[in-house]
Amino acid sequence: MRLSCTINGEAREVDGVWEGESLLYVLRERLALPGSKNACEQGECGSCSVYLDGALVCACLVLAAQAHGREVVTVEGIAPGEELHELQRAFVELGAVQCGFCTPGLIVAGHDLLRRDPQPTEADIREALAGNLCRCTGYEKILDAVRLAAERVHGRPEADRRDQDAGLDAPRR
Ligand code: FES
Ligand code: FES
Repeated sequence: MRLSCTINGEAREVDGVWEGESLLYVLRERLALPGSKNACEQGECGSCSVYLDGALVCACLVLAAQAHGREVVTVEGIAPGEELHELQRAFVELGAVQCGFCTPGLIVAGHDLLRRDPQPTEADIREALAGNLCRCTGYEKILDAVRLAAERVHGRPEADRRDQDAGLDAPRR
């Protein structure tokens, strides 16, 4: 089949997609978007988290065909322009990245949280990231990074906040 969809704000077409292929496979192997990671392929680890029409999904559990005519945003489309998103910056600054395999999924899940909830509580943060598994960091630095990003995104002067919120509402490359 020919898959037509919007990915990170760009119209994309892929020919020869097999009906059983996952969206994750198409992103990584056919569209050269390796940010979304393939760790479990069973919906257990969250490493492949992407937005599908604005909803957080595991790309390994979504058939590529289900994305036909829809909008996909991957971790490659989270940051505004060439700069890192505040969440990505906080992960780097606080050492929340070790092997980095879980990081793209955590970034997308954290982004989704900050988009929905400007001032998440500790419980909100833990719940939002509960579906994302990390083997390396023990989670504390990851949680610290999300807290820091939340402060920076929503504790800024109004003009800056509007810019960042625009990025949160409409993530794209
Ligand atoms: S690779 Fe999709 S949830 Fe683990
Ligand atoms: S940083 Fe290695 S799995 Fe999370």
